[in-house]
Amino acid sequence: MDDSRARTPVGPPIRTPVAADGRLGPADEHPGLSDAGYLRRRHAIAARARGHRVGDPSVPVAYTEAEQRTWRTVHRELWAAQAEHACRAALDARQDAPIPADHIPQHAEVGSRLRELTGFDFTVAGGVVANKRFLGSMAEGWFHAVQFVRHPAVPLFTPEPDVLHDVFGHGIHLTAPAFADIYRMIGRAAMRVDDADVLQMISDVYWFTLEYGVLAEGGTPKAYGAALLSSYGEIRRLHRSDVRPLTVDAMLTTPYDIHGYQPVLFGARSLEEVTDTLHDFLERLDEDSARRFRRCS
Ligand SMILES: [Fe+2]
Repeated sequence: MDDSRARTPVGPPIRTPVAADGRLGPADEHPGLSDAGYLRRRHAIAARARGHRVGDPSVPVAYTEAEQRTWRTVHRELWAAQAEHACRAALDARQDAPIPADHIPQHAEVGSRLRELTGFDFTVAGGVVANKRFLGSMAEGWFHAVQFVRHPAVPLFTPEPDVLHDVFGHGIHLTAPAFADIYRMIGRAAMRVDDADVLQMISDVYWFTLEYGVLAEGGTPKAYGAALLSSYGEIRRLHRSDVRPLTVDAMLTTPYDIHGYQPVLFGARSLEEVTDTLHDFLERLDEDSARRFRRCS
């Protein structure tokens, strides 16, 4: 089975479930998109984000026993899958991460730990967040995260980002200064520009690094991207991905299909290489960057 992935920076978008025989099925058949009772609950939790200002405290959610059970199931599976397929930097970060096995952590529980370690905190989102707000908030140490939980019938797959994705992916990153510095660097670049195409360029490199990045360790691709770290299915098939050298030009010109597995990933030799590659690109961005890039490509 599969988990989820990100369409825009807020996290995984709708993607296609994978049947037991490996064939792709229509995403809209997922119970998370068609179960009226589930959708009411999901929307009720997401509605808390309406009118939310970045940095306002997240209102705690009284999670049901079924939601807690889903968390425990996914926790067990992801913990083991990450041990095998995540990169050393992510696994080291995980040791300090606020990921309890027995209950869904509230944003306050996650945030207080992240704050101690890197100065980051979660701020609540109800779903997709516009690029400027989502990316720009990272400059000040805020990460937009949702609170709702995936459908219990298919716990290892979700058609959209949920609290498991945010905690198991971004929550791990944001316990480690090396990852947090990348978030801040992206945030500063997003704060400097308003052009939608330039913001999309930032979003594209965010996608291929912090959501889907891999590092080569011992000749094997190991995940550091949040979407991979929180995707039980996808992290286990990294060896089948087309892993290409990390370059900004390639990330800006490689389309991503939001309805299937990510077939192309970009790999670096180290997190330092990721940081340096992004730094050179982000520091030079200005309002004309998209126009210049289109002329040259
Ligand atoms: Fe995400």
